[in-house]
Amino acid sequence: MVSKLDIAVQDILTQHKSTGEPVDQLVGKITRSRGFGSRDRKLIGDAVFDALRQKPWPAWFTRKIDPELEQALRTRAKPVLAIDQRMITVQEAQKQLRELGVESSVSHLAKTALVLEQDRLSLDSLPHPLRESIWFMDEGSQVIAAQIKAKPGDRVLDLCAGGGGKTRMLLATGADITAVDISQTRLAKIPGVHRIVADGRTVSLPPFDWILVDAPCSGTGTLRRSPDIFGRLQEADIAAYAKLQRELVANATQMLKPTGRLVYATCSVLPEENPMNFDGLELIENRQLLPSTDGCDGFYHASFRF
Ligand SMILES: C[S@@+](CC[C@H](N)C(=O)[O-])C[C@H]1O[C@@H](n2cnc3c(N)ncnc32)[C@H](O)[C@@H]1O
Repeated sequence: MVSKLDIAVQDILTQHKSTGEPVDQLVGKITRSRGFGSRDRKLIGDAVFDALRQKPWPAWFTRKIDPELEQALRTRAKPVLAIDQRMITVQEAQKQLRELGVESSVSHLAKTALVLEQDRLSLDSLPHPLRESIWFMDEGSQVIAAQIKAKPGDRVLDLCAGGGGKTRMLLATGADITAVDISQTRLAKIPGVHRIVADGRTVSLPPFDWILVDAPCSGTGTLRRSPDIFGRLQEADIAAYAKLQRELVANATQMLKPTGRLVYATCSVLPEENPMNFDGLELIENRQLLPSTDGCDGFYHASFRF
């Protein structure tokens, strides 16, 4: 017999296919409207995400990646925590989590990252002030934040600051941080920085020592955690992202001090979005992180100077 849970899973997958609406939104909407409790909500969410991981992906994408990467992008990823080092050390956070029965290991990629052994954790269930000191953020994302090696007082621009995951890590450097994003809603969540809602392609600000362009991208590196990407991503979007990314870097370059450093980053695995050169800048170093070789989500970062 087909259970109410199975029916909800099928309905979510059908609606996602016809509307492209993100599945986490659909899971919330449908499970709430049908009166499911939190345990069933999680089971339904896991079943929907697992089903999406098995679905065929568009040929234009699979043609561009090797089979090992495709396989790795289809696996479930462990939750990873970032630690606010202004509030607690990684070792202390790990100890407190262990006392609560939550086992973790320090990432081999980022010394600020704790990889959990369990599949999920509700931060709300943790005691104060531990829960305010940690947040979810993939290891690769933390590697990118660590590329901004700012000193206290340096002027740092986070040009696509979004919800502020990386900004929060940058705050631990003691630098003077300006966060820009085109989305007021996302930017509103970042405390302790100068916040400017603006288009990163045209905003003009006094020069910075460090600029992070954590560019809007296809998100194909995060397929392990967001297997619904192809509900909204088309092949033509890749060229549009590449154009936007170049425009953001071109404008960022205008705001970089002559001695400054610019770090470009994406969570994409596609070379079109991960270039090694930008007009007027010299590449210092770059790296493509992949779930198949590094165990984290797919991220790219490249550091530049004049
Ligand atoms: C990859 S996300 C940033 C994630 C964020 N840095 C973090 O670590 O949580 C890219 C961000 O670029 C923003 N964005 C898109 N177009 C933009 C533009 N033209 N100017 C500034 N920000 C833009 C989006 O709103 C989104 O928040």
